[in-house]
Amino acid sequence: MIQIQDWESSQKIVVVDEINHGTVQVEVPKPGPYKDEYYQYADCAIYNLWVDEKYRKQGTARLLMETAEREAKKLGCKSAQLEWDDKGSKLFVLAWYKRLGYRVMARNENNRLLLVKEF
Ligand SMILES: CC(C)(COP(=O)(O)OP(=O)(O)OC[C@H]1O[C@@H](n2cnc3c(N)ncnc32)[C@H](O)[C@@H]1OP(=O)(O)O)[C@@H](O)C(=O)NCCC(=O)NCCS
Repeated sequence: MIQIQDWESSQKIVVVDEINHGTVQVEVPKPGPYKDEYYQYADCAIYNLWVDEKYRKQGTARLLMETAEREAKKLGCKSAQLEWDDKGSKLFVLAWYKRLGYRVMARNENNRLLLVKEF
């Protein structure tokens, strides 16, 4: 299921793979102060990527990421950012994001790495 939500300062794309128990979200900010503050490097943010433990290592997250990027492009995005930190996520995830084309751009004040991909 792909749902496009229209909020005041952003559109959000929610991708739910019910069969394989995975989800991901994308936030596409609308022009304005919110965008200016949080989106210096990219047109949207991909976040909340999750696959339930029993369903992992079967390519579900890869499909979710491809869907998220495709839907972001449909809304006009030419780049995406995401965050990674070693408390919330394993090291292989960072290596995988790099294989998907994301590059480390900055380290946030909360010590998370900010990665960006140009489509
Ligand atoms: C990260 C996560 C979403 C991956 O889900 P998944 O469906 O198992 O991922 P996939 O099967 O699509 O695999 C994605 C890639 O990671 C690799 N991978 C998956 N699990 C791995 C593991 N335990 N060790 C090493 N590599 C692994 C796969 O080989 C694949 O690489 P490739 O596409 O280059 O071949 C899942 O582990 C998860 O939900 N983790 C907790 C939440 C989280 O960390 N989210 C990311 C927040 S930054």
